[in-house]
Amino acid sequence: MAPAQNRIEISYNGKTVALPLIEGTEAEAAIDIRNLRQQTGLITFDPGYANTGACKSAITFIDGEQGILRYRGYPIEDLAEKSTFLEVAWLLIHGELPSRPELESFSGEITRHTLLHENFARFFSALPKDAHPMPVCAAAVAAMATFYQEPESDDTIHKTVIRLLAKMPTIAAYSYKHYIGQPFIYPRNDLDYCSNFVRMMFATPCEEYEIDPLYAKTLDLLLILHADHEQNCSTSTVRMVGSSQANLFASISSGISALWGPLHGGANQKVIEMLEWIAQNDGNADRFVARAKDKNDTTRLMGFGHRVYKSYDPRATILKKYCEQILAKVPAGSPSAKLFDIARKLEEIALSDEYFVKRKLYPNVDFYSGVIYKAMGIPTNMFTVMFALGRMPGWVAQWLESRRDPDFKIGRPRQIYVGATKR
Ligand code: SDX
Repeated sequence: MAPAQNRIEISYNGKTVALPLIEGTEAEAAIDIRNLRQQTGLITFDPGYANTGACKSAITFIDGEQGILRYRGYPIEDLAEKSTFLEVAWLLIHGELPSRPELESFSGEITRHTLLHENFARFFSALPKDAHPMPVCAAAVAAMATFYQEPESDDTIHKTVIRLLAKMPTIAAYSYKHYIGQPFIYPRNDLDYCSNFVRMMFATPCEEYEIDPLYAKTLDLLLILHADHEQNCSTSTVRMVGSSQANLFASISSGISALWGPLHGGANQKVIEMLEWIAQNDGNADRFVARAKDKNDTTRLMGFGHRVYKSYDPRATILKKYCEQILAKVPAGSPSAKLFDIARKLEEIALSDEYFVKRKLYPNVDFYSGVIYKAMGIPTNMFTVMFALGRMPGWVAQWLESRRDPDFKIGRPRQIYVGATKR
């Protein structure tokens, strides 16, 4: 769809060139600068790519000003309420919600690929006992490329997608069991996706494990909310690595590593550590907010602010509601209930403070997710692994879309050189 005005003129060094404007289906427009350097000798400069579109995509739409998030046109609120994670995974990858037969065959394929090659047991045991589960998961996904080395084709890519979605819960649960020194619990084919994960995480060989359906349902919701988020840091990393025609395992492994950063997916772990710090320091939220505002203090209000959302992150709205539901099941005064109270106090202070209001800093997806994970007994250092588990279908969908993009090119940004001239 061409915008009303379909080009923009740039005058430079006495020359005027016209650059085409392109517009998406949601009326956001862009200057197509593919010929900028050739026509003007100029490049653009945009650290962090805050103003730069890297691709056209039909997967996820975010309106940061309105706080809108849609997967393939479906509002996140509807999917959170009415869908399941595997349905959403299919939707993100294929563009339409699955029919009943499609969903049954998809979840059946995934069920039959949840087992890891037995050599993975030796892989995990070679890693330090106190290894953080995120690098363990990134390494394990990269190592999958050594177990499945068929040349890339549509068929092998399909199998890789199934293997990644199926084995990521097993890898995540094994990385946790390795950390706490308990035996790995094999996946079971009679359990659904989330129940299987909960059991692999918390069961032991010593006794039967009763799966709480509320936990499995809550986990399913959390995975839906994390499933995709257009061109965020880790997804852009997955696309960048895939742009060299590296395989899907290598691309996803790099996405897991990018997600680990505390400014990105690692923020959910930092939020709980922040709430616990406040709880241990006389619960004084005001003092922490003052530190987050102080330019001389690197402290940030973790779980607040977003590159795109300049209003409330719709995922945070849903998660806050779920916190109330989940915490109604845990004893009052429990650590999770206390942390939730501190989080709500922090939010109240920040949302009425000029510093945050002026900078349009609102709670993001990471602000409340950790409270729910903690209430479910998931340890803090596994929170970002949970984020990766949810984001898997989004990464896969974005990687597939980039490979099928007629504009597909290897990613190779330019720079402005500021170093020593010839000497
Ligand atoms: C995720 O991109 C995605 O979609 C990511 C994600 C996804 O689903 O993939 O949504 C998931 O990563 C959510 C974000 C999780 N990160 C955090 O919660 C960490 C805390 N937030 C920030 O560090 C920050 O808000 C970012 C990294 C999220 C966004 O950073 P930007 O867009 O680069 O903004 P900035 O760092 O330039 O901040 C603008 C101003 C600065 O102040 P001034 O220099 O203008 O005076 O706001 C301040 C910042 O100091 N600021 C904060 C703050 N976030 C921004 N000050 C205190 N606390 C904060 N949290």
